[in-house]
Amino acid sequence: MPDSALARILADFRGERAELLPILHRVQEAFGCISEAHQQEVARALRLPLYEVNGVVSFYTHFSKTRHGLPLRICQDLACHLRGASALIRDLGAWVRQAQGRGAELTAEPVSCLGQCDRAPAMMVGGEIITELTPQTLQAVVERLASGRPASTNGATEVGGR
Ligand code: FES
Repeated sequence: MPDSALARILADFRGERAELLPILHRVQEAFGCISEAHQQEVARALRLPLYEVNGVVSFYTHFSKTRHGLPLRICQDLACHLRGASALIRDLGAWVRQAQGRGAELTAEPVSCLGQCDRAPAMMVGGEIITELTPQTLQAVVERLASGRPASTNGATEVGGR
């Protein structure tokens, strides 16, 4: 039996293969993740093999398979790696764990390229892209989110050092 909220989403579509991405976007938006159970229902509704749905969910960085709070997606691909993303990812994990210990519902999620290579290292929080990360800006983002404020300091779409 499909989840009723998921069934309502699926009812808005005709059940055609080409609708896979729009459906997955709706599921991600509604549930904050696309779980294995969601993927099975979508695959059944579109008459697709589960591996195909899972492959699409795995490919796109804005889809998550699990929900552990707001995902802080930090790029781990080459341009960001060359500008220190590995250390930032370690730092982010530590700061997020500290914030979780204080009750914040945040999660660190290394992802593939966010299309901001010329302003690396980059991360995405919700729909907001934050570029030219430093340990200081990254820690400030975590602290702001942990205290219920927006990721950036001024409501702009980016935080950068340029
Ligand atoms: S490699 Fe990180 S944004 Fe492209």
